[in-house]
Amino acid sequence: MRVGALAAAGGYRVERFDTISSTNDLAMARGRAGDAGRLWIVADAQTGGRGRLGRTWVSPPGNLFASLLLIDPAPVARAPELGFVTGVALSNALTRVAPSAAISLKWPNDALLDGAKLSGVLLEATTTPEGRLACVIGIGVNCVAHPDGLPYRATDLAAAGFVVARDDLFAALADEMARALALWDAGAGFADIRLAWLSRAAALGHRIDVAIGDRLISGVFRTIDERGRLALSTDSGDIHIDAGDVLLPSLSPPRAGGEKGNN
Ligand code: BTN
Repeated sequence: MRVGALAAAGGYRVERFDTISSTNDLAMARGRAGDAGRLWIVADAQTGGRGRLGRTWVSPPGNLFASLLLIDPAPVARAPELGFVTGVALSNALTRVAPSAAISLKWPNDALLDGAKLSGVLLEATTTPEGRLACVIGIGVNCVAHPDGLPYRATDLAAAGFVVARDDLFAALADEMARALALWDAGAGFADIRLAWLSRAAALGHRIDVAIGDRLISGVFRTIDERGRLALSTDSGDIHIDAGDVLLPSLSPPRAGGEKGNN
């Protein structure tokens, strides 16, 4: 398994494993142990794959599980912008390997295919032995399988008719991450990343529901603000949301189901 030429030239490295608990766990451990960063951890399968908000990420062989460790990528307050950087890179990489795929991005950092969840991103952070910021960007892409029984529609590339070699997708992703990180420029280029993200945003200008804990807020999705917050026009005024789950009409489940995972 290799990173693409652009990533290799930028000093990005990769370590591949057959089965591990979680690529995020290992990348975090590498950061705590003092790794220099620009390190990808990729696994064929995960036994303890984790999603956002404490959910499980179902991780069978054939799908892509990759985590990128970055040391001091930006001041800590800008670290959440990495989710948008990753969304832009992921949509570019998916378009490279499956040019006719209808990829869109769902706030904060899911990639959708035909409106169904294809990929998720888990951002985590820790500190190095010298007290530097270590960020881990964990990316899961459903290449050949997706779980059933989720509270919304999920899909995988093969199910949608796209035969993609996982290693080719990873090489494209590593290159596109290197490119998007350079554009972001430790936060100085967030305006460009924001525009690129918005150009692929699902449901922009449409009415959506946002689940925040056990509250559900309904409104029109106006934009992502300069801090990456979701701007929503509700019946009682405009609000900016820091964290939550966007529920798109197209992501409604075909039938009722329990929350078994997050893919
Ligand atoms: C989500 O949508 O909830 C985020 C899912 C992130 C899953 C990836 S798979 C690679 C990395 N390792 C993990 O344990 N999680 C992330």
